[in-house]
Order: sequence, then C-alpha cells, then structure tokens
Amino acid sequence: MADQNATLTLPTGEVIELPVLRGSYGPDVIDVSGLLKAGFFTYDPGFMSTAATDSTITYIDGDEGVLLHRGYSIEDLAENSNYLETCYLLWYGELPSKMQKQEFVTSITRHTMLNESLAHFFDGFHHNAHPMAMMCGAVGALSAFYHDVMDIRSEHHREIAAHRLVAKMPTLAAMCYKHSIGQPFMYPRNDLSYAANFLYMMFGTPCEDYTVSPAVEEAMDRIFLLHADHEQNASTSTVRLAGSTGANPFACVSAGIGALWGPAHGGANEAVLRMLDEIGTVENIPMFIDKAKNPDDPFKLMGFGHRVYKNFDPRAKVMKASCDDVLAELGVKDPRLAVAMELEQIALSDPYFAERKLFPNVDFYSGIILSAIGIPTSMFTVIFAVSRTIGWISHWHEMISSPYKIGRPRQLYTGELPRPYRAK
Ligand code: SDX
Repeated sequence: MADQNATLTLPTGEVIELPVLRGSYGPDVIDVSGLLKAGFFTYDPGFMSTAATDSTITYIDGDEGVLLHRGYSIEDLAENSNYLETCYLLWYGELPSKMQKQEFVTSITRHTMLNESLAHFFDGFHHNAHPMAMMCGAVGALSAFYHDVMDIRSEHHREIAAHRLVAKMPTLAAMCYKHSIGQPFMYPRNDLSYAANFLYMMFGTPCEDYTVSPAVEEAMDRIFLLHADHEQNASTSTVRLAGSTGANPFACVSAGIGALWGPAHGGANEAVLRMLDEIGTVENIPMFIDKAKNPDDPFKLMGFGHRVYKNFDPRAKVMKASCDDVLAELGVKDPRLAVAMELEQIALSDPYFAERKLFPNVDFYSGIILSAIGIPTSMFTVIFAVSRTIGWISHWHEMISSPYKIGRPRQLYTGELPRPYRAK
C-alpha cells in the first residue's frame, strides 16, 4: 500500500523516510512505526489525526457528510435495506442472496433465547439500576455460558459468537427494561422480525396479546440500522483494544458498552432528551445557546458536534425524516420536536457553531423517535448498544482474522525524575 515516502528531519539532524500508505478512499496515512527506532514516539491525545488500523468495513468523509458500509451509502441502505441485512453486509462484506439472507435471519432468530440461568442474574440488580449498568454486567456474563465458542482463532467460532451476540442483545436489553419496571421477562418469539421481537419483549406482557404496529416496527428497525457501525469510534476502538489482548468476544462487547455509555458518545441520545426537557420551551433556547458558547460553562449542546463530521451527520438527516414520518403516523405531538427544530435552526445560524462546524449528529433526533414509540429515556443508549453490537463484533472479527499485535500506546512522561526513598 506504500508508493511514496514522507521525509522527516529529526532534531538530531537525522533524516528518516516514512512510508505513505494509500487506501482505496480518503486521506493517505503516514506509517510512523519506524519512529521508535529513531528514539521518538508520536503524540496525538484523542487520536485526532491517528489511524489505528486499516479497515474495509465503514468509510466516513466528515467534510462531505458521507457514510458508507462496505461501499453502500447509509441513505441507500436506510431506503432499501433493513437491520439484519445490514448486519450480514457488515459481517460478510457483501449483501446476501435471498437464500443467504433467509439462512442468516433464521440463525439469528433461533439464537434469541438466553440460558435460563441468566434471568436470575437480574435478581442482583436493584430495580432502579441504570439499564446500561445491567447491560455491561449481563453481556459480559454471556462468556460464562458459551465456552463452546471461545477459540477466537476459529472463524466458525467467531461467526457463532457473532450470531449469538446479535441475536441475544435485544433479549437482554428488554430484560433490563422489564426488571426496571418489575414486570416479568418476555420470551422471544420466532414468528416476529428482529425489531418487532424486541418491541414485543419490551412492551408485551403474559396477560394479553401484544401486536406491534408496522410503523413502529419500521421506525425501530431503521434506528437499529442507522446505529449499526461507524468506523473507529470510541466504543469500537475499545472493542478492538480489548480484542487485541485475546479476550473473548462477549467480554470485548461488554467493554464497548461501557465506553458507549458516556454522554460524549452513545449516552448523548439520552442527554439530548434531558437537555430538551431542561430547555422546556422555545423561549428558553437563547439562554442555553449562550451557556453552550460560554467557555467557562461545561454545558454543551447534546446532539451537536462530532469528531469526524464537519458537515451534517447523514444519519441525522435520515433520522429527522423518520422523526416527521413516525410522529405523523402515530399522531404523536411531542413539543420537544418543536424545541429541537428551533434549536437546530438557531444553532446553525450562530457563528459559534458555524465556525466550529458543529452540526446535529445521529443522537439529535433519535431520542424523539424513541420517545414517540414509547421507549423510556434510560433505554436509549441500551438500544444504541444493541444496534452497534454488529459493528463492534465485525471490527473485532476483522482484526482477529489477520495478524495483529496487542494495542499498547506509549506516552509523554511529565512526572518526577528518579529520586531515593526518604520517609516524610
Ligand atoms: C456519537 O465517533 C463517532 O463516530 C461517534 C458516533 C458513533 O456513531 O459511534 O457518531 C456517536 O458519539 C455522536 C456524538 C454524540 N455526542 C454529543 O452529541 C455530545 C455533544 N458533542 C460534544 O461533546 C463534541 O462535539 C464531541 C465529543 C462529539 C466531539 O468533540 P471533539 O471532536 O473533541 O471536539 P471538541 O470538543 O474539541 O470541540 C471543538 C470546539 C470546542 O470549542 P473551542 O475549545 O474550540 O472554543 O467545539 C466546541 C468545543 O467546546 N464544541 C461544542 C460542542 N461540541 C464541540 N460546543 C457546544 N456544544 C457542543 N455540542
């Protein structure tokens, strides 16, 4: 992949040549691994300009607002595909034939049930435990049940683990919700689609039939699809780093869930709704815009800005269109939508946000849709985790499938010089 070099003159006067690697799309990268021999590290807190790996799964052009999964645009997939087909694409690299899709859907459907012992796991959680706390624990605990797929060197074992994770995440997520409201767990149903099954396990009860509205089922599937993968984001990088030690896939995904929970990342969708509730009315927006612009105020506009997108997040555009459709279809009037739309207009016309290229991201509208279909705010990031599991495990699989090294960044040490021990 290297067809030219970058020349670097070191403070010592030494001149070194660093290979410039060219991918199939997007910026070239400079391979700095040779710097160590010259006695230097690179320094890039937050990895703002660091490529940690090469990958064929997802491509993002932040300036153009482009998101491709295996070359297919997110707009195309949202329009023509569904979540499980996109899962197949992310894992296997190609869209499935009719037969392949049917086999894949059947495999996922037949893996949705959990070992019954896992249900008792939830007895240890208080009802008011945050569902993400329960998910971190429950998903990590899957590795206590599936020893038969722990040889990560086996592609077949990796595939079974992936199918199990994609299939069981909705069941675990619904159990977190049911536990938090003191209702009995609902077993998955093999006659329902992935999205409908999740909604059934969330809102169904043993006392009466529960039918999922097609509009809600479609909206749920689209939300799953839009959150499926996003290149080397913080939680995916966490899964890759955990996987580079040889940890099992369930433990790696549990680590990813922990990273996703933060309000700067996947926790933003929950934070957006809490922010809209705090703003309350359109009249209060200017006060919150001022807070967001105040460097001495830690408040940030949740759902705005992105490390990579310096344009509209293409997922936010699709999400906003879905928002209008779902609310109209369900006849839901959510005053927060009016506040969100006015907030977006005011922010986008304010130089502070324009200069910093802060646009709405995927989390800005997703919470309004999730609220409209009855999902409680505390479950928003859990749903993000359910959806992103295919992205996490596909990146893990991609890394493990080729020679890899344990991820172990270095540092710039700024601490004490060596000093002898003397009791104070
Ligand atoms: C996701 O990486 C991914 O791909 C993530 C994700 C995925 O699918 O995996 O897309 C999902 O995490 C989306 C992002 C969700 N988070 C939020 O909505 C939280 C609010 N956003 C910010 O926390 C922030 O924008 C980040 C964390 C998303 C990005 O932060 P960066 O890239 O580190 O940018 P920065 O903090 O250096 O900000 C640059 C400037 C700063 O001002 P100055 O110091 O230059 O004066 O922009 C300001 C920031 O203060 N800024 C904001 C802001 N975001 C950045 N000011 C007000 N409100 C904001 N939301």
